[in-house]
Amino acid sequence: MSILKIETYPAPVLKQKAATIENIDDRLRQLAEDMLETMYKAPGVGLAAPQVGESLRLIVADPGEIEKPEPIVLINPQIIAGEGKTAMKEGCLSVPGFTAEVERYQSIVIRAWTPDEKEIELEVHDFPAIVFQHELDHLDGILFIDRISRLKRNIYERKLKKGTLEQD
Ligand code: NI
Repeated sequence: MSILKIETYPAPVLKQKAATIENIDDRLRQLAEDMLETMYKAPGVGLAAPQVGESLRLIVADPGEIEKPEPIVLINPQIIAGEGKTAMKEGCLSVPGFTAEVERYQSIVIRAWTPDEKEIELEVHDFPAIVFQHELDHLDGILFIDRISRLKRNIYERKLKKGTLEQD
């Protein structure tokens, strides 16, 4: 296991559409393990492969209770249904020092593959639904700052240039 380097905006890999995974092999399982370790260490509740420089459709997440780790690894995940609306302040390990409210579906159904090569469907609501929508966006090169108003985006870009983003 190893801690991976997290790419931050404006790294080009974060803007790319990630490639579909053709083979679920040991290399991929190792990458998922390393991503989980990196996510827990950060700490974060989700991480997508492009954030560690791998342009692949792979995400890891643990949006549950902190005392009870429940790591989830999803390969080639797709949102196949979404309903309701919710919004909360989001942050991102690749956009350090900035948070903003983003509108998302309140409930989603995801279809994906697991590391042991099973195809699954997952229905999630509220906070976990927000986490998965945020992580799936990364696979299409979309950051949460791409989903906020132009005004808020300008505030972010200005702070980034001036180096006045809050440090964690
Ligand atoms: Ni993120």
